[in-house]
Amino acid sequence: MTLQRFSGQQLVCEHTGRELIHVDCASHVYPDGSVGIHNMCFRVLEHEIVGLVGPNGSGKSTLIEHLNGLLEPSKGSVSVMGRSIDGSIKKLIWKDVGIVFQRSDDQLFAPTVLDDVMFGPLNMGMSPDEARSAAVEALGAIGAQDLEQKLPNYLSGGQKRLVCIAGILAMRPKVIAMDEPTSDLDPLHAEAVERIIRDLKERHGISVVIATHDLDMAAKLCDRVCVVKAGSIIAEGSPQDVFYDDLLLQEAGLKKPKVAEIYEAVRVQFGARADARPITVEELAQWSGRLAKGSEK
Ligand SMILES: Nc1ncnc2c1ncn2[C@@H]1O[C@H](COP(=O)(O)OP(=O)(O)OP(=O)(O)O)[C@@H](O)[C@H]1O
Ligand SMILES: [Mg+2]
Repeated sequence: MTLQRFSGQQLVCEHTGRELIHVDCASHVYPDGSVGIHNMCFRVLEHEIVGLVGPNGSGKSTLIEHLNGLLEPSKGSVSVMGRSIDGSIKKLIWKDVGIVFQRSDDQLFAPTVLDDVMFGPLNMGMSPDEARSAAVEALGAIGAQDLEQKLPNYLSGGQKRLVCIAGILAMRPKVIAMDEPTSDLDPLHAEAVERIIRDLKERHGISVVIATHDLDMAAKLCDRVCVVKAGSIIAEGSPQDVFYDDLLLQEAGLKKPKVAEIYEAVRVQFGARADARPITVEELAQWSGRLAKGSEK
């Protein structure tokens, strides 16, 4: 994967026919005239974790809400599995694309956790028995089976987030989009959610979209990273290509992930070569070992 840079004038989105979701030059203007996204081109491919990284107000949440038709573009189009989203097929799209919202409270409303997680499957037409087993299975998959009978209102922030993920997983979608999935979580809960995101891809074959400004998490998880600025994607590439491009990060208003920052500082200090570009702590540790043996000079 090579780093691709896009200008605001780009008019045609790359389209291979293999996309699960294709956002084709979409713009969204909110009723008060604010521009949420502008000429946005974005794809979700099979079996990938794709990151949307960008500063506050860059359009990540607006884009996410277009992925299952919750918001409709004022211009351009969005298609899921080759079908353009319009009113008549919205219910089918909700089955294929689930969204875990930035604020868990926007998603939880039923009297118990089990009712909440069963709501989506019931709404999709499953029988109560089928919905119950889909919900129990989803709660089990994320290790939250002990929360079944709790009141959603009284859960901690981390527990609420897990229940929201289970509610989407119970619908067995092909794509799950998560908006800031680890914001306001403590490091252990954040790690648990990161593990779940990996599992969604590896064990359940679900493609995951993560919108975040936590570049450390994006570096750890993403196969592909899209950089969002002022409502458009200005670049996309591997985490290595994106997170070691100082000019791009500066232009986007983002800061390097910690691993890249430490690598650059140590590398300069020891006059080492610049081609290792580790992206995970493990890669950084391996590089440090080679540096200590003198093979990185
Ligand atoms: N409901 C709304 N009405 C009017 N303007 C909105 C609305 N929601 C978002 N916007 C505007 O659209 C732009 C994009 O906002 P969006 O929430 O998509 O950004 P974001 O990248 O998700 O930001 P954050 O990182 O803070 O969550 C911003 O300028 C914002 O003020
Ligand atoms: Mg947002």
